[in-house]
Amino acid sequence: MRQLRLDKYLADMGRGSRSQIRQDVRKGMVKVNGITVKTPELKIDPEDDQVSHAGEPVGYAPFAYYMLNKPAGCVSATEDRREKTVLDLIAGDGRKDLFPVGRLDKDTEGLLLITNDGALAHRLLHPKKHVDKTYYARLEGPVAAKTVREFEAGLDIGDERPTLPARLHIIRSGPVSEVEITIREGRFHQIKRMAEAVGSRVLYLKRLSMGPLALDPALGPGEFRPLSEEETAALGQLTSSCHLFDNTGQ
Ligand code: URA
Repeated sequence: MRQLRLDKYLADMGRGSRSQIRQDVRKGMVKVNGITVKTPELKIDPEDDQVSHAGEPVGYAPFAYYMLNKPAGCVSATEDRREKTVLDLIAGDGRKDLFPVGRLDKDTEGLLLITNDGALAHRLLHPKKHVDKTYYARLEGPVAAKTVREFEAGLDIGDERPTLPARLHIIRSGPVSEVEITIREGRFHQIKRMAEAVGSRVLYLKRLSMGPLALDPALGPGEFRPLSEEETAALGQLTSSCHLFDNTGQ
């Protein structure tokens, strides 16, 4: 197992900031295998060494997974000088190595996975994996049945290539239409540009699901919870997720 500095280990496990922890170590509040240590830079083996902080054992949990219902008004970044970030919402967790898997626009709400599992993030985001992402949207103006076919055929949104086939489900068509859209790419402002390509405009956007993970309806905007064991296992099994159009060979 990879060795970790004691102060980083404790910070990653949510015991405080690196500087707080260094102070605690120097004050004699940290033991490794029952022996008080005063050197925060000591290298430990997280799987073999027993660490305690302020008298409490601090077990090793290499990965953390949270489902966040992102509210409008914060950015999908780990830090930002001016804007509130999605990680500010999870700050109570205390871990220092979390990041959001992919991005939602500042004004988009809904499902965002927050983790420190880089390999999982890579699998979910890799363009060749084609993980389905479903959004609820309110669109300006009525949506015609032919628009469903246009989404299915792929749209020219000004990129080199048209979009891959996407599913448009019309919930209600009117002056403000309600739809669900499933895409399997993650291009910049993709849903907004797809709406514009068919002469409409996104008025409201919320992500409902990503691969096997669905937004928990009990989570209000800004609320989060750890993933359940079933949800983590379902993500772990994700190798390729071409639920939409398996026959394209892409
Ligand atoms: N498409 C968009 O236009 N914005 C998002 O935040 C996500 C998908």
